[in-house]
Amino acid sequence: MATDNRYIAASAQGGALKGIRGEMVTFHEDPFLIEDESKCYSHYSDGLIVMQDGKILAAGNYADIYPLYPELKDIDSYDNSVIIPGMIDTHVHYVQSPMIGSFGDTLLKWLNQYTFPTEGRFKDPEFAKSVAELFMAQILKQGTTTANVFSTTFPCSVDALFTESERYNTRMITGKVLQDRNLPDYLSDKSAEESIEQAAELMQRWHGKGRQLYAIIPRFAPTSTPRQLELAGKLYQENLDKGVYMHTHLDEADDEIEWALSLYPEAANYTDIYRRYGLLGNRSVFAHCCLVKEEEWQMLHDNDCGIAHCPSSNLFLGDGMFKIWEATAKERPIHVGVGTDVGAGTNFSLPRQLNEAYKVAMLRKHSIGALKSFYMVTKGGARVLHLEDKIGSLEPGFEADITVIDQAPTDFLKWRMQFNDFILDRLFILQTLSPENLIKATYVAGKKVYDRDRETQLIHAAEL
Ligand code: GUN
Ligand code: ZN
Repeated sequence: MATDNRYIAASAQGGALKGIRGEMVTFHEDPFLIEDESKCYSHYSDGLIVMQDGKILAAGNYADIYPLYPELKDIDSYDNSVIIPGMIDTHVHYVQSPMIGSFGDTLLKWLNQYTFPTEGRFKDPEFAKSVAELFMAQILKQGTTTANVFSTTFPCSVDALFTESERYNTRMITGKVLQDRNLPDYLSDKSAEESIEQAAELMQRWHGKGRQLYAIIPRFAPTSTPRQLELAGKLYQENLDKGVYMHTHLDEADDEIEWALSLYPEAANYTDIYRRYGLLGNRSVFAHCCLVKEEEWQMLHDNDCGIAHCPSSNLFLGDGMFKIWEATAKERPIHVGVGTDVGAGTNFSLPRQLNEAYKVAMLRKHSIGALKSFYMVTKGGARVLHLEDKIGSLEPGFEADITVIDQAPTDFLKWRMQFNDFILDRLFILQTLSPENLIKATYVAGKKVYDRDRETQLIHAAEL
């Protein structure tokens, strides 16, 4: 475990300094690739983060850092807590918040019966606004500060999420969902051409506006015509160097794979469908990947793609089991983050997803320790999104997105935690037992937008 302190000087013209003090953990090397765990994280039993103008100036031992900033007066101190980087959800559908928990059955039946009718309601900008507000509140309460989000067909569903994200100043990724066949008329794009024009217009409006980032989102191969995938791939390739993403579903369930291949018989496998249309690239994120063949892993690795593992969703819909040991194999590793995948996922909490991810792996006699788990929802998630130089770490120069986990959120947990000293043991217990009120505070770009114990728990950044 590295314990070096890192700091940079405060800028004289900058805003006031703000500190956060308490037990603290941050992550470094990828624990899926590096045997020596000590190189993969830093733990400070009494740590201090110094922030200015939304960025981190210093993070390390309180005793070392505090004397370097004599002008630092405003410090939030947390007992019985652990401060970590803001968590990153690499796959979630905000538009499915109203139907989370609906009786499932298989993926394709669930989509037709509950998902499409719900997403159809987002044609109404007022409905979209109300759900975007609800969604942002839910994820911030769970300590998630960045999410890679599916909106739906209607451009106003994208505007609604970005607008609410701007009010919290969160770094969010979303885009219009491209879907022009095999779904009801009320949700379908009218033509491939029009859908791509709408996506390009939204990208123009939102990509790089403040902290907002745009993704090109074909829902999955079965709901796009070859023409739509072709145009989506072209738009992606033209905008990859501007940091635009491609986000879709891949290899989630048996019947889905069979259907995709019947619609694209020329493809060698499901991943190859996306490859043929230029949709594989270093900003491509594929959700699920439960039933991936070896040649597909290789393709995903060769194209530097990222994966969102969505365990609570996979369990809920009875899809395949994600094989994390295959995805991260040292000879051709792929970057893996974690997705709540609401509304097939059954909650907005990333620690709870880690609890499920551990069990899914254990069913095949593979375990995932707390180091790997918490890496995936912080720095590993940032790596999937190519944002590892901006978020996911508590280091100087990084954006100050920070989550404070309560180590005594219930009387029972307070009692239980006394029996373990080692920080990784304690993080594992917290993810496993993970109560609803686990998160004490969430900071976005240096501002405490969520405080569980404040009279007004959630406050937009501009009002702070
Ligand atoms: N595949 C295509 N659309 C969806 C969706 O909305 N949820 C899940 N879990 N899988 C999908
Ligand atoms: Zn999904």
